[in-house]
Amino acid sequence: MRKITIVGAGRVGESTAHNLAKSELCREVMLIDVVDGMPQGTALDIQESAPQFGFDTKLHGDNDPEAMADSDMVIITAGLPRKPGMSRSDVLETNLGIINGVVDVLVTAAPDAMVLMVTNPVDVLTYAVWKRTGWERSRVFGMAGVLDSSRMASFIAMETGFSVKDITAMVMGGHGDTMVPMTRFTCINGIHIKHFLPDEKIQEIVERTRQGGAEILALKKNSSAYDAPAAAVAAMVGAISHDRKRILPCVAGLEGEYGETDICMGVPVVLGSNGVERVIELPLFEEEDKQFRDSIATIRADLQKLRQFDIAAS
Ligand code: 2OP
Repeated sequence: MRKITIVGAGRVGESTAHNLAKSELCREVMLIDVVDGMPQGTALDIQESAPQFGFDTKLHGDNDPEAMADSDMVIITAGLPRKPGMSRSDVLETNLGIINGVVDVLVTAAPDAMVLMVTNPVDVLTYAVWKRTGWERSRVFGMAGVLDSSRMASFIAMETGFSVKDITAMVMGGHGDTMVPMTRFTCINGIHIKHFLPDEKIQEIVERTRQGGAEILALKKNSSAYDAPAAAVAAMVGAISHDRKRILPCVAGLEGEYGETDICMGVPVVLGSNGVERVIELPLFEEEDKQFRDSIATIRADLQKLRQFDIAAS
C-alpha cells in the first residue's frame, strides 16, 4: 500500500505509525489530529528515528482531515478512551459523533480506502462506519481479536514459560467483558493447552484476557493500553499489505454467518490484499455458542443505543 492515514495521533496512533514505518508496510504514513501541531510533531519525531531503524517510509502530520486524501487505508483511533471503572460502551455517544465526522470526510477524500477501526466501542463503531459509508464489508473492519488473542497468548507464555512463537490463541465475540476466548483452538505448537495447564489455570487466563484492557487501565490510571493495540493493528496491516491470507480474529460485518446479519463483531476472517476476504464460520460447541450469543446480545444492545444517538443527531 502506498498511503496509510491514521486519524487520531494519540498514543495508539503514534505507536501504530511507528510500527507501520519500521516495517515499511506502506510508503507514506499520514497522521491526522485536531490538536494543533501535535500530529506534525509526532510524524517528524518518528521520521527522525528512521536512520536508526533504516526505514524509508515518509511520515507527515496534519490538522486537516482532508489530508487523508487518496489513502489506501484509513486507520481510525480518534476518540475518547475510557477511564478506570468505565466500560468501553460508556464512550459510545461521544465517539460516535467523532467517527461520523471522520466518515463524512473519508467518503469523498478517500473513496477507495479500506477502514481499520480501533476507536471503542470498536464492534459498534465499525458497524457505524460500515453503514454510514455504505461500503462493502471487505473494506470496513476493526481491530480487537488480534489484541485479545495476543494478551491470551502472553498470559499462557507467562504461565508455561514457553516461547510466544509457538503459542496461538483465538478470541472471538465482542471486544468487551463478553468476549469469547476459544480455549479449544488455543495450542502450543499444535499441542492443546490442556496438555500443559490445568483447567482452573486455563479459566484464570480466560478471565484475565477478558479484563486485559481494564487491567492495564487500572495500572496506568490515566491511559489505556497502546503498545499491544498498535502491535495488533500492525499485524492486520501486514496481512493486507503483503496479501498474506492470514486467518485472524477481526471485527467484521456478518451477512448470514453464524446465523447473524446487520452486526459487526469479532470472528475469524481471511485477511489479505482485499481486506476481509472471507468470514470463517466455526462449528461452536454448546457452551461456546452460548457465550457467543451473549456477546451478540451485548453488541445488539449497543447498536440500539447507536441508532437512538444517530436519530437524535440527525
Ligand atoms: C484495550 O483493550 C484499548 O480496547 C483497548 O486495551
